[in-house]
Amino acid sequence: MEIILKTEKDTIEFAKKFSKQLKAGDVLLLDGDLGAGKTVFTKGLVLGLSGGKEIAISPTFTIVNEYNTTPKLYHFDFYRIKSEDELVAIGIEEYLFSDAICVVEWPERAPNILSMVKTKTVKILKVDGGRKIILNGEE
Ligand SMILES: Nc1ncnc2c1ncn2[C@@H]1O[C@H](COP(=O)(O)OP(=O)(O)OP(=O)(O)O)[C@@H](O)[C@H]1O
Ligand SMILES: [Mg+2]
Repeated sequence: MEIILKTEKDTIEFAKKFSKQLKAGDVLLLDGDLGAGKTVFTKGLVLGLSGGKEIAISPTFTIVNEYNTTPKLYHFDFYRIKSEDELVAIGIEEYLFSDAICVVEWPERAPNILSMVKTKTVKILKVDGGRKIILNGEE
């Protein structure tokens, strides 16, 4: 399915609702260009899963941020990794095979590691008048 979200607030609200369909152990890939709204979407997920208590920020200077949501949520940003070895070094498999929800920005930086695990995808496209969200990679 696809939907147009006009504003950042719309994306937050959509992601809050979407968060309710995520299950412990899910790995959600956020596919989209720079500034598409992947971090905004993650903020909505974290708000939805924490009842508004936790605010997500971009894991710009770390590879992962952890949130005490229910289930727990790990927010990854692979933009700056130089190789997938960096992910192995932080113990990425422990995260991916945990019963937390993993949300990944820039999944295309780690094709080999992510091929080990079942994933869901949300694609975010910049379009005139906002953002187009495509669920499960359908065009
Ligand atoms: N409909 C919309 N949904 C989400 N963000 C929007 C929307 N319209 C405008 N924006 C703006 O687009 C930007 C999205 O930024 P965000 O940090 O979420 O992008 P990102 O995909 O995480 O980028 P990066 O790859 O650099 O991490 C914000 O400045 C936000 O205000
Ligand atoms: Mg981001």
